[in-house]
Amino acid sequence: MHFRRHATHLEIFAPAKINLFLEVLARRSDGYHEINTVLSALGIFDTLKFAATDDPEIVLDCRWAHGLAARAAAKPTVPAHELPLDQIPLGPKNLTWQAAQLLRNRAGISMGARISLLKRIPAAAGLGGASSDAAAVLLAANIAWRLNWPIEKLAAIAADLGSDVPFLLAGGSAVATGRGERLSSVRLPPLHVVIVKPPVGLSTPRVYAACQARATATGPDALLQLLVAGRAALAAQHLVNDLQPPAAHLTPWIEKLRQEFGRQPVLGHQMSGSGSSYFALCRSARQARRLAATLRARNIGWVSYATTEVSI
Ligand code: C5P
Repeated sequence: MHFRRHATHLEIFAPAKINLFLEVLARRSDGYHEINTVLSALGIFDTLKFAATDDPEIVLDCRWAHGLAARAAAKPTVPAHELPLDQIPLGPKNLTWQAAQLLRNRAGISMGARISLLKRIPAAAGLGGASSDAAAVLLAANIAWRLNWPIEKLAAIAADLGSDVPFLLAGGSAVATGRGERLSSVRLPPLHVVIVKPPVGLSTPRVYAACQARATATGPDALLQLLVAGRAALAAQHLVNDLQPPAAHLTPWIEKLRQEFGRQPVLGHQMSGSGSSYFALCRSARQARRLAATLRARNIGWVSYATTEVSI
């Protein structure tokens, strides 16, 4: 995660993620599913400002970057399970707030924080926005509260906050197993993607609940070997997301986006995470930028292009 130190606060850039591969293997007794997934951090960021305070309170303010807020306001009423873009809880319901609170409790300190969040990553999109904001708080608080915990100790707290939080704490690309918290990092060449978040979002528990776990795992080895070899066009034929069929039952947007991307000259395409965002792999950054411009004219929601982040 990128940081900037200012005199009064830390500024952190919290990246989005996409899932290039996601197999759902079995439902566990704790209600989670065993998964086998490949994640990559994307060059689209929420900006978080974190200032330590002597006052024990954690104060959070949050706003959408220009454009997203306007779209949220213009959106028609949607069914209850399709969360609107503008629905960001403040206070104890916000994962960012919870991250600060949990770290403070575990560290046994009484300092507080003022956190200000500028959102560019759409919510309820399968892009890891809330998880990344929570990971950013752990990293920022670790510095600002002078805890100096090693990353492994922060990762344990990250896993308690959500299945994707440990990955977003680490960044780059990784294979994740367990419920998504057991990581093995991989170094992949940058990939150029176009992402669309339709006007409706999806709830992760609902999508998992509607998913039929697969009997046999294929694993991401074929995909990873091709990606590492820089053969993105062939690798794109090995994209997998087991959550896409159940998500397509919950909203017609997934099929609509599949068909839209099917008409475009992209390397491959699929839904990210539990949706509702959908992405395509492109041949180049230039192709991604051009395709994003074409899709923006289609009135299919939020459209962006980005390159995956290669970890240092
Ligand atoms: O871990 P996280 O809070 O992101 O998970 C949200 C919900 O998504 C879980 O409560 C569970 O219903 C579902 N989930 C799952 N299996 C996973 C990850 C999430 O069933 N591996």
